[in-house]
Amino acid sequence: MCGIVGYIGTEDAKEILLRGLEKLEYRGYDSAGIAVRADDVTHVFKEKGRIATLREAVADDVAASVGIGHTRWATHGVPSQLNAHPHQSSTERFTLVHNGVIENYEQLQREHLCNVHVQSDTDTEIIVQLIEQFSGDGLTTEEAVRKALSLMKGSYAIALLDKDDPETIFVGKNKSPLLIGVGDGVNVIASDAMAMLSVTDEFVEIMDEELVLVQREGITIQTLDGKEQTRDSYRAELDASDIEKGTYPHFMLKEIDEQPFVIRNIVQKYQHEDGSTRLDGDIRAAMQQSDRIYIIAAGTSYHAGLVGKQLLERIAGKPVEVHIASEFLYNMPLLSDNPLFVFISQSGETADSRGVLVNVKKQGHRTLTITNVPGSTLSREADYTLHTFAGPEIAVASTKAYTAQMAVLTLLAVDTAHAAGIELDFDPLQELGIVANAMEALCDQKEELEQIAREYLSVTRNAFFIGRAVDYYVAMEGALKLKEISYIQAEGFAGGELKHGTIALIEEGTPVLALATQSEVHWSIRGNVKEVAARGAAPVIISMEGHEQEGDALVLPRVHELLAPLVSVIPTQLIAYYAALHRGCDVDKPRNLAKSVTVE
Ligand code: F6R
Repeated sequence: MCGIVGYIGTEDAKEILLRGLEKLEYRGYDSAGIAVRADDVTHVFKEKGRIATLREAVADDVAASVGIGHTRWATHGVPSQLNAHPHQSSTERFTLVHNGVIENYEQLQREHLCNVHVQSDTDTEIIVQLIEQFSGDGLTTEEAVRKALSLMKGSYAIALLDKDDPETIFVGKNKSPLLIGVGDGVNVIASDAMAMLSVTDEFVEIMDEELVLVQREGITIQTLDGKEQTRDSYRAELDASDIEKGTYPHFMLKEIDEQPFVIRNIVQKYQHEDGSTRLDGDIRAAMQQSDRIYIIAAGTSYHAGLVGKQLLERIAGKPVEVHIASEFLYNMPLLSDNPLFVFISQSGETADSRGVLVNVKKQGHRTLTITNVPGSTLSREADYTLHTFAGPEIAVASTKAYTAQMAVLTLLAVDTAHAAGIELDFDPLQELGIVANAMEALCDQKEELEQIAREYLSVTRNAFFIGRAVDYYVAMEGALKLKEISYIQAEGFAGGELKHGTIALIEEGTPVLALATQSEVHWSIRGNVKEVAARGAAPVIISMEGHEQEGDALVLPRVHELLAPLVSVIPTQLIAYYAALHRGCDVDKPRNLAKSVTVE
């Protein structure tokens, strides 16, 4: 969701900004733009659509070594060239890019800008017009920015160019992520470190309600009331090759294939040489002291949370509730005496989850974030973090981050069980190794899965995924993956629930993908398959060795049933991938979606 880059150095800013924006494409966007300063003029180029279109629009002959850039995911106003960032103030002195949502922008416009002609439908233009207004009242740019930021309510990350101060990029942030990258005679800004890895791998965090003056020779961090702050930089542990597709046609396919490695990597990171789990003692203590775990997450991470509940309850005997982040504060359950809040988030930036984190922290509850991005907002702000070590996930549709979350939840459950003296009748770490091997075998079955996608999903309008017990949660995830990248209307249902209404939608040829990995319920799910088949559905049964039946479309290698979701999700990911491909969809960058959802 919206991305910002900025550069001040000695090289061609245009190219560095465009390449940075390309690295942020994964976040999802519908328009893009850059502004560079050359010959006392701020040149703005912006276009609706892809960065490739923007690239064509950027004039080659503008030589600049300072600039800012932006990818926009529309919130206020349709995706268009006019609403794309950067936005300029009326005199074109100030040029601004912004991520986030300014909740009181209409009020600010009424109170301060009644004589100003505002051109776009965006809240962003109000910020840049305000800054010009305040500077016209006699404030320095720094003071004008500070005043504007302190009046704004909501979330923002901004970068501003001032035509009269060619040596500074003014940067501010509240709730939305933004980093400063530091180098020798060059400094950059980026929503995500990977956008500027080609310039530097050394970064400095900006905290909420800070203003940073970014210049060639250094940066100055201040609070909004002008107090200077000092902060150490850190080295981003990212390998530039992790964010390249290599020989793969899409990041999604690469990331699906990486899953066996990710699981083995997680086991290695969290396992002592004697085979026991290696989790932070504070996390272990927090788990032990809590009487109930509240998992908070969104989308795919929520689905991982549902599996996590089964793992924590069955392995460690801990009661768990799983809540959708965006609903939690409005449907707050009665909390137990000693709750522990566990936030699951690939990006660590999801605004809905952060809203809950801020709220429960104020109430004094302990918090743990499970994330793929350790320096992210949710990670910084929670009491404890567990890293999922999946490596950067670029495709918008989450795959390896989901299985990594479930693997880490398994280890958390095992560690909690051991701390409580619970004897397990299986070796979970060894079982995760078996899971990795099974994943590998399934990744080698692409042809069969492509054939299923071609046969059942090439032309259909809708599809259903059904399952019982943990298979139900994978059905929900399989449906989400299919709908987000192929635009087929897909729903995941509990097998037994279909007959209570939804079965009315089954028509001749409706694809129904049924997951049957659990010995306790595989006969009942097969019964549900018969019910839909009798009404014309085209069923595809995915079962597991040990209880396969003739006619099953795919039989998964046998793994421990509690860990089956890590394996059964692989065919659903690959089927969604091939369905999207056959339907000509943009697999890695599906329409309307953002990788990092930083608005509530
Ligand atoms: C779907 C997907 C989303 C995210 C959701 C939460 O493939 O990626 O549903 O899972 O937006 O994002 P995180 O995990 O970053 O909090």
